[in-house]
Amino acid sequence: MKRTHNCGALSEKDIGKKAILQGWIARRRDHGELTFFELRDRYGATQVVFNAEKNKKVHEEAKKVGKEFVVQVEGKAEKRPKGTENPKLSTGRIELIADSLKILNSCETLPFELEGKVPVGEEVRLKYRHLDLRAPKVQEKIFIRHKIVKAIRDYFDSQGFIEVETPLLAKSTPEGSRDFLVPSRLQPGKVFALPQSPQLFKQMLMVAGFDRYFQIAKCLRDEDLRADRQFEFTQLDVEMSFVDEEDIFKVIEGCMEHVFKQVGSSKELKIPLEKMPFDEALKRFGSEKPDVRFGLELETVSEVFKNTDFEIFKKALDSGKEIRAVNAKGCAAFSQKEIKEIEDIVKVYKAKGIITVKFAEKGPESSSIQKFLDEKTIAGLKKKTNAEKGDLIVMVADDFKTSSIALGQARLFLGQKLKLIDEGKDALLWVVDFPLFDWSDEEQKIVSVQHPFTRPKDADLERMEKEPLKAKGKIYDLVWNGFEVGGGSIRIHEPELQAKAFKILGLSEQEVLAKFGFMLQAFKQGAPPHGGIALGIDRIAMLWTRSESLRDVIAFPKNKSGIALMESAPSEVSEKQLKELHLKLDLEK
Ligand code: AMO
Repeated sequence: MKRTHNCGALSEKDIGKKAILQGWIARRRDHGELTFFELRDRYGATQVVFNAEKNKKVHEEAKKVGKEFVVQVEGKAEKRPKGTENPKLSTGRIELIADSLKILNSCETLPFELEGKVPVGEEVRLKYRHLDLRAPKVQEKIFIRHKIVKAIRDYFDSQGFIEVETPLLAKSTPEGSRDFLVPSRLQPGKVFALPQSPQLFKQMLMVAGFDRYFQIAKCLRDEDLRADRQFEFTQLDVEMSFVDEEDIFKVIEGCMEHVFKQVGSSKELKIPLEKMPFDEALKRFGSEKPDVRFGLELETVSEVFKNTDFEIFKKALDSGKEIRAVNAKGCAAFSQKEIKEIEDIVKVYKAKGIITVKFAEKGPESSSIQKFLDEKTIAGLKKKTNAEKGDLIVMVADDFKTSSIALGQARLFLGQKLKLIDEGKDALLWVVDFPLFDWSDEEQKIVSVQHPFTRPKDADLERMEKEPLKAKGKIYDLVWNGFEVGGGSIRIHEPELQAKAFKILGLSEQEVLAKFGFMLQAFKQGAPPHGGIALGIDRIAMLWTRSESLRDVIAFPKNKSGIALMESAPSEVSEKQLKELHLKLDLEK
């Protein structure tokens, strides 16, 4: 290697030494007889000086190169003149006085400035991701991701877990999203499904006796993209034999504690983490992934309105629905526009609208249902929601789940708008005791809350069959600042119980056999009790780096529409390729 140091290495102790650096020209300044480069690489940046008085030839050569040229500079490290030090750089007390300059490669004018002040649209950044990734701030997030994954691998290795790779070309998995399919050339008409997770394989590894498995695994799901969702994402996938929920909590808490220690010095994680039952999360925060960094907890105010003449509330209560409320502290002066903003949010989450009561700083309270509010009702509402002068009460009447989720979203909006969230804080907790099944209005059938292999709580083994929608499962999610970063469960390992679960889900014997026959068979061949979890690595890296989207912590992400802009994928294929795969396109004109 020609270079003697990288661009972040030289410091005061090297003053007087000769050095050869190679890197990119991040900045250049021309001051007549003096030309300055900031030479950058992955490790840092060093100021290089071309001094015409000391070396006319090299000063002339320096004129030929521009920004982002790749160059090699040889010179001597010298102390920077007093007052010109840059304490922000590790190399900020020295500069390299150039003796020679070699151009390793030129660079055309770039579509955007790498570390410029003008904001660059994400689409352009993703199209030229190789340039975007050259900027230190962007690179930093990828380095942190590396550290997180390294800390995870080290931890699991130290705990006796074995990393096993599982196939990408496989059969449909039961995570419930849409599969990406790969047509088979050798088996006409048949397809592989890319794995939504290694779920089935890791359970088979338990049957095989691996006892403690983990994998940093690529997962693929064809679902609508959001800031925290990509088609392709990475899981830390874990499975353990002879365990119950507490064992999984301990291992994952140990892992997170290790990650916090290894990756960042200022962050600290206190374990054991809080465990919040699903019902409580919904009741207090209107979410199964509560952001507990701020208050504004939801209340049920049905009792306050039990004798109301207000038709909407009356009807709701008569049909067993609830009136739920959030106290928007200090928001009594909200404009109609601001109130409409809240209403628009709850409507997205299926609530029909909101009723508000303003406890103005001065004067009496006012409400969209003023004439139905007698003194007793106001007093009751005040007590239940801890309303004081200046507060705004926002209410939704609907079934418990809908009103809670809708107000939970209003709560998040208010938390942000009122700047109640301490952005420096990391709040991690477990949400536990999820229901085993849910009713899908869309499909008009019972569906798994997690997947069909989830084990019911011991106390609900019988209820699972009799009242499936009331049974709770051994399901747990890891939540971080309002994001679900992980989810898992203790599994069913008995073929009879598994068959019952499939039946409740409305799967015919034939379907079960076709989809999961191999697994049921394996369960009859000595399957140990087992359970596991998967954490979203991309989400962890996103939260760690306080990024707004997963795209910032994935080297080559898809854009919001699911397109890989840099290499333009997906793309069309030739007739020949289609033919080999026995495919014909049937596109709408
Ligand atoms: P689940 O479907 O909850 O569980 O996924 C586990 C974690 O993976 C992350 N995740 C995603 N991250 C980015 N983009 C996506 N589209 C995406 N989907 C999921 C989340 C989530 O918490 N097999 C089970 C785990 C188990 O039971 O062991 C599973 O995959 O952080």
